[in-house]
Amino acid sequence: MRTLIRGGTVLSTTGGTPADVLIEDERIVAVTEPGVFETAGTVLDATGKYVLPGGIDAHTHMEMPFGGTFSADTFETGTTAAAWGGTTTIIDFAVQAKGTSLVSTLDKWHEKADGNCAIDYGFHMIVSDVNDSTLKEMETCIGAGVTSFKMFMAYPGVFYSTDGEILRAMQKATETGSTIMMHAENGIAIDELVAQSLAAGRTDPVQHGYTRPSDLEGEATSRAITLARVTGAPLYIVHLSAAEALSAVAEARNEGQNVFAETCPQYLYLSIEDLAKPDFEGAKYVASPPLREKHHQADLWRGLRTNDLSVVSTDHCPFCFKDQKELGRGDFSKIPNGMPGVEHRMDLLHQGVVAGEISLGRWVEACATTPARMFGLYPRKGVIAPGSDADIVIYDPVARQTLSAETHHMAVDYSAYEGFELTGKVETVLSRGKVVVSPGGFSGGRGKFLSRDLCQYLN
Ligand code: URP
Ligand code: ZN
Ligand code: ZN
Ligand code: ZN
Repeated sequence: MRTLIRGGTVLSTTGGTPADVLIEDERIVAVTEPGVFETAGTVLDATGKYVLPGGIDAHTHMEMPFGGTFSADTFETGTTAAAWGGTTTIIDFAVQAKGTSLVSTLDKWHEKADGNCAIDYGFHMIVSDVNDSTLKEMETCIGAGVTSFKMFMAYPGVFYSTDGEILRAMQKATETGSTIMMHAENGIAIDELVAQSLAAGRTDPVQHGYTRPSDLEGEATSRAITLARVTGAPLYIVHLSAAEALSAVAEARNEGQNVFAETCPQYLYLSIEDLAKPDFEGAKYVASPPLREKHHQADLWRGLRTNDLSVVSTDHCPFCFKDQKELGRGDFSKIPNGMPGVEHRMDLLHQGVVAGEISLGRWVEACATTPARMFGLYPRKGVIAPGSDADIVIYDPVARQTLSAETHHMAVDYSAYEGFELTGKVETVLSRGKVVVSPGGFSGGRGKFLSRDLCQYLN
């Protein structure tokens, strides 16, 4: 089976070049000057289009248990929506419940995902119960291709770990070369503010934002960085939303520490004004960290340019407005935390290219190449080169589209970006050589589990 993608501009971290791409079965076999190969079993005309490595969304939550319910996308619906938006790999989170083992958790997540994904997928492990046996099990997870461990400084009583527990897990990460991913918000202080707000009768969704000030993200980020410095562990700050947190990351990186961070489209495009929408509509925008004041957005774009923010992931964690966000009417602390977004990450970040905030090369780097290297998938993923998996997006940079829950493919009843008018649209998506999305629609995928290596960036 040979497929030729002809006439397009092939994108990499350095920008675009006119080139043709030849695929044999699941792999790329040649990237040549235009016209070297004239035909193949299948020829895809990419004239006027970008040809870029399939997106890698390193932070999703399909079917995630949270706040007494489950995120609305299954692995099947969520990965299908991802494919529609030009994402060909997700890394989702297996969630250890307190009192259970990491190995049984991983088995459970394989049961949910295996055979159901439209695109390739890997797992990180959420560690919520640090003890001698789970620390030992981190080694087993790494052997099974799960090389990164998320911990929480937020959500006391649920996922929260103490500084001592974090320190122990970081020591294990140092010993094994694995990565600690951190949800950095000071959950102990936040819970006090939440209790005070509810006691004073302030119960609407915007209070979610007021009770989680950006300073408490900055403080937790600094503390996580300190613990990583003391232990020598590689640290990856997830869903960074605040200027204060970015400053802490930038300072640590300037010192040469192995500290990395991601942000998400919602922090680049949405703000606390969305959380303040009347009639409980703000509940659609409840996620943690919360949407911030608009002035943080310029700092985040700068962070993307300087590589202090090196990855853009979605933190896709959808809950329906009607039957799930509803759980927190009259008590914002009971609104399931999370927002949908896996389908539109590539498109939304392309607006940053259109607006001159980031270069074409940075778009590809933050959305595909860096996540591949950060999480041990490069060069199998994240690049268009001979030998790499043929995960490829043909992207029309001038097509126009309007985002809406009416037309999206995520299994959630609202869009956080309803009515956003975008320039650029995915035309065709290949997952390991198979066309999964084309102008004719979705044609089925066959996603496989990806056993990952360690982070490929360490000093
Ligand atoms: O609100 C969020 N972000 N929900 C998903 C869980 C997490 O903390 O990433
Ligand atoms: Zn988190
Ligand atoms: Zn998350
Ligand atoms: Zn629903």
